[in-house]
Amino acid sequence: MLQKNQVHIDKILALGINGEGIVKKDGFVIFIPFCLLNEEVEYKILKVSKKVAYGKLIRVITPSENRVEPKCEVFTKCGGCQLQHLKYESQLELKRDTVKDSLKKIAFLDLEVPIANKSEYEYAYRNKLQLPIAEVDGETKLGFFANNSHRIIPIKNCPIHPDWSSKIIEVFYNFIENKGLKGYNEEKGTGLLRHLVVRSVNGKLIITLVLTKNALSCKNDLIKALKENFDDFTLYFNINSKKTNAILGDEYILVYGNGYYEYEVLGIKAKIDARSFMQVNDYVYPKLYKKALSLIGDDENITVIDAYSGAGFMTSLFAKKYEKAIGIEVIKEAVDCADALAKQNGLEDKMENICANVEDVLPKIVNNLKKADKKIVLTVDPPRKGLDRFSIQTIKNSGIEKIVYISCNPASLARDVGLLTGTLTYENGEIKKVENPNFDYKITYIEPFDMFPMTKHVETIICLEKV
Ligand SMILES: C[S@@+](CC[C@H](N)C(=O)[O-])C[C@H]1O[C@@H](n2cnc3c(N)ncnc32)[C@H](O)[C@@H]1O
Repeated sequence: MLQKNQVHIDKILALGINGEGIVKKDGFVIFIPFCLLNEEVEYKILKVSKKVAYGKLIRVITPSENRVEPKCEVFTKCGGCQLQHLKYESQLELKRDTVKDSLKKIAFLDLEVPIANKSEYEYAYRNKLQLPIAEVDGETKLGFFANNSHRIIPIKNCPIHPDWSSKIIEVFYNFIENKGLKGYNEEKGTGLLRHLVVRSVNGKLIITLVLTKNALSCKNDLIKALKENFDDFTLYFNINSKKTNAILGDEYILVYGNGYYEYEVLGIKAKIDARSFMQVNDYVYPKLYKKALSLIGDDENITVIDAYSGAGFMTSLFAKKYEKAIGIEVIKEAVDCADALAKQNGLEDKMENICANVEDVLPKIVNNLKKADKKIVLTVDPPRKGLDRFSIQTIKNSGIEKIVYISCNPASLARDVGLLTGTLTYENGEIKKVENPNFDYKITYIEPFDMFPMTKHVETIICLEKV
């Protein structure tokens, strides 16, 4: 019988969707992070539940030929990356397999899936750094949270960010030490510095220092230290006095610079400031958006409904090319960004941004467009939990000819695609397999994109067309 603290030696039979190694033993499936396929490993059992157990890798006895040296000193301790020990080409294959297996196991769809579309940069790709600043054993440290916890793992650099990140971490460490500043203590609610958030826009930095109150008397020294190290930056304070997990508060104070940088991508102009939302990998998201455009097609005489539209970047791309684009997004600030994009790009007449829940407004929008005899293409880019069942029903009833689905979670994507194609159905509140599906929609395109190298995450684009 498998028990906690036992040590075993076994061969890894498969990799799970989080990139962890899988072993089967005594009727249990055991998940062991940081192992690779076919490796023989020694591991310790940490937790045993009904049929599943979790182990910790002690040593690799026979390493896989795909094993490589991780670049990061705190890989395995920090919760950010899961795959630095796996050769990049194999990461792309693993992401392909994750998407393919999810569609097969969850939606009973056996499809050819290409290898994930790679990121030009495997490391140094993130344009946004977000670090908690906290009191650790009486000292102020910058770092990342350990996996599933709020324990800080102090860092000096993070290789999935470009060089500017280690430089800025050093500037802040020196500044904090020279001034004797205190990091936030979550339990007591004490300390002044809470988070450092930095975004790079074409190499220019938008720096936001999150404080518990507007009381950093030595701000001119901070500006001086930053000027000595960076040619082009703007600095904000953000005030977050609440005892919550939210990183940012509502109040922003512009401290240095003009507060924003202009940015242009795929012909869309944007003013990026500390509040703007941007995808984190500049080397991948333009490829994904271009693919969405090419899947929607060249007929310009259509209306695109862009559901879960975020800050409206895709909506504006669609509005530029097609007759009209309607974005639906629940967060007011994101809709304000989308309205600003429409204005900056002269698209006010062709781009409508609706602040609402998709499930509440989609039926009416579809009905109105159908009454007006408009050709509709629907794009959806939902959060991890995927589409809700009412939206799926609306889509199925609507007869929309083409759906382009962008997903950050292969499991919810597979469920939704199963429900849309008809291999799955809801019965008495449960999702069931359909024995002889009608295939209301067929999948005409599928491609994973590696937006987040070194991590388990994968973006997938799928095109569904009415049969
Ligand atoms: C993955 S993001 C989409 C990002 C966007 N397409 C882009 O490329 O920038 C999902 C968005 O859906 C929004 N959202 C979540 N649930 C929603 C709902 N029920 N109705 C409308 N929007 C929702 C979130 O606020 C978030 O902005």
